[in-house]
Amino acid sequence: MTDCYAVVGNPINHSKSPQIHKAFACQTGQDICYEALLAPLDHFESTVNAFRQKGGKGLNVTVPFKLEAYQFSTNLTERADLAQAVNTLKFEDDIILGDNTDGAGLVRDIAINLKIPITGKRVLLMGAGGAARGVILPLLQHQPVELVIANRTPQKALALQTQFSVYGQVTAGEYTCLAGECFDVVINATSASLDNDLPDLPVGIFANNALAYDMMYSSEPTCFLKYAAQHGVRYLADGIGMLVEQAAESFNLWRGIRPETKAVIADLKR
Ligand code: ATR
Repeated sequence: MTDCYAVVGNPINHSKSPQIHKAFACQTGQDICYEALLAPLDHFESTVNAFRQKGGKGLNVTVPFKLEAYQFSTNLTERADLAQAVNTLKFEDDIILGDNTDGAGLVRDIAINLKIPITGKRVLLMGAGGAARGVILPLLQHQPVELVIANRTPQKALALQTQFSVYGQVTAGEYTCLAGECFDVVINATSASLDNDLPDLPVGIFANNALAYDMMYSSEPTCFLKYAAQHGVRYLADGIGMLVEQAAESFNLWRGIRPETKAVIADLKR
């Protein structure tokens, strides 16, 4: 019997997940269906329960439901627990397993697709909201020499420093604290790009051969990527690779098989 999966969010029309998972299923010969599921803003749980009752096997969860999915899960992976957000649900009997594959997707895109090692590098993570929180543990697992978290509201970055320091070298502060420092990998996890804005960065934060990575994506380069290019950065990436890699990680959790991502990323970029 065909197993059914979906991505649940609000809005959901724009989601590329059905296209990505259909490509994975075709490539791996897995007999699955995958749809986009619109949940009313105050009906996440009932929408998910209805999907489960129809025999649904798992869900990807997107904006604005990642925190509700975290609370709804009966079991959590360590990375989802630390992220306090769930982007993947797997249903098995009475168990609702919550995982967060966003950070794994990011580090795979950087280290494997872009071939830029994180190990031993100085990494700057901009932002201290849900998107930033989800990628800290996977970044630290790659053992950067230092991870600096900068945020407009410094208290939020400092709280993340306190929480994650047991996993590696983390420091935190506001953007002005970055004056005089430079980084090999600069990741924008703020939502500023959505407003065509960017954090207030001091000049000189990009090291030679730095990578500027925006977790957002759009048809045009984001404000942050334009800024990085204007400041001489040659390695620029938006969040398309991360999107496909987090999907591959979810697919692997559900089906026990890891799809190839290269062609899917290239297709989406076209
Ligand atoms: P998400 O789930 O996308 O991370 P969020 O939890 O609302 O969304 O977090 C948004 C992040 O983007 C925060 O770190 C926010 O900074 P504050 O904590 O100071 O609000 C950051 N952000 C949004 N717009 C920004 C801007 N124009 N400049 C700098 N940071 C911005």
